[in-house]
Amino acid sequence: KSVLVLHGPNLNLLGLREPEHYGKNTLADIDKLLADKAKSAGIALKSFQSNAEAELIDQVQALATEPVDFLIINPAAFTHTSVALRDALAAVRIPFIEIHLSNVYSREAFRHHSYFTDIAVGVISGLGTQGYLSALDYAISQLNSPSI
Ligand code: DQA
Repeated sequence: KSVLVLHGPNLNLLGLREPEHYGKNTLADIDKLLADKAKSAGIALKSFQSNAEAELIDQVQALATEPVDFLIINPAAFTHTSVALRDALAAVRIPFIEIHLSNVYSREAFRHHSYFTDIAVGVISGLGTQGYLSALDYAISQLNSPSI
């Protein structure tokens, strides 16, 4: 079983970028925590970050021929703008959880709308690094017992 974690634009700056919103962990810290959890559950996990919408879309499209079982995605600013990334996810039909480190609903109004929420399995917003780890826990539980 396999999980792909996708991180959108500016998440490469985690640790430096607005820590009051996004916390002190770097992206490498988050990816390491996820990799360790996946490994102990016997799940293959890959992480990918890009600042480019097209690269994220290409990664999702590639899943049509080399699928994974579950996606965890923080589309970052593309959450609020990208019909194209939404369409790619809808095309491959792989279940995904939408993650936001910050609570987008406590922030500017333009962050309250997401192009992803209605086609996601679920959304976690505001729990920082823990949100990614909880999403992975959920994915692992589903992959280990798909009938639940
Ligand atoms: C974010 C929230 C988005 O509004 C913002 O553009 C980001 C990160 C989050 O993780 O809280 O870049 O997705």
